Amino acid sequence: MNIIKTTAALTAAINQAKEEHKSIGLVPTMGALHEGHLSLVRRARAENDVVVVSVFVNPIQFNNKEDLAKYPRTVEADCELLSQAGADIAFVPTVEEMYPEPVTTVYHFGPIEEVMEGPRRPGHFSGVAVVVRRLFDLAQPTRAYFGEKDFQQIAIIRNLLEQIKYPIELVPCPIVRADDGLALSSRNMRLSKEAREVAPNIYATLLQAVEMSEYEDVESVKLWVMDTLSSFHEVNGLDESLRFEPEYFEIVNDTTLQPIEDWSDAEGVVGCIAVWLDGVRLIDVIRFRPEEEE
Ligand code: PAJ
Repeated sequence: MNIIKTTAALTAAINQAKEEHKSIGLVPTMGALHEGHLSLVRRARAENDVVVVSVFVNPIQFNNKEDLAKYPRTVEADCELLSQAGADIAFVPTVEEMYPEPVTTVYHFGPIEEVMEGPRRPGHFSGVAVVVRRLFDLAQPTRAYFGEKDFQQIAIIRNLLEQIKYPIELVPCPIVRADDGLALSSRNMRLSKEAREVAPNIYATLLQAVEMSEYEDVESVKLWVMDTLSSFHEVNGLDESLRFEPEYFEIVNDTTLQPIEDWSDAEGVVGCIAVWLDGVRLIDVIRFRPEEEE
């Protein structure tokens, strides 16, 4: 595997691949890689001649300075994992390399950014779009791989591709979980041992919500999830430090991301949640009525 640090060297490698008419799969990441990321890399490996994985902690998508400072950085281990997963190129630029000029571009996405993560992380999705577009320009991928863990991010990238009209195939990939159900995330390593043990109750609660959706209305299921998680530590006699603080739980149309009022309002329905636990912000997503999806 080739570890490339400059945009000039990446452009040279991509130009050569293009001359040889090779397909290119791009997997953008911020590093601290785990099986969730690697599932995207393996999928890209199976579907493309050349696999490019970027490892770049993108400062302009962090609306919270502390979160940026605390973001885990494990580049050496990341490159080892990428090499094992069959990547051809690990693109590991510095901030100066990615942004030689101050970034002034701002992207707008309309209603899909006015819900869930959008209002709570001002500037986040524009920052994601700026870096992803830059990566698209550099890597000129045939296909780009994104995980459904960040469900709203996929809708944003789909919209970005419509705006910039690049002929890139967006490949959404299923969420990968730990054996106990917790969605894998680079942030999980910041949880204390005790918090890591209670964290899988987020997914367990979402699974129960799916069962409830068979006989309860949307609003009741929403309230139940928020209440169940908020009171979890109390009900289970756990320490205050293990309190779940749900920021939102929304049940939305999987295409428009707008909240639904009735289960029949959309063909695809997902529930998206953001929860604070032990000072760490965790997100997860679940499909409702999955049997009707196929
Ligand atoms: P990051 O959080 O590193 O995630 C990189 C990719 O891995 C994203 O597409 C994300 O959805 C996917 N991913 C993370 N955890 C996953 C899991 N448990 N299962 C499946 N896929 C998972 O998302 C970003 O970085 C950044 O916003 C980025 C797109 C790289 C732009 O900076």
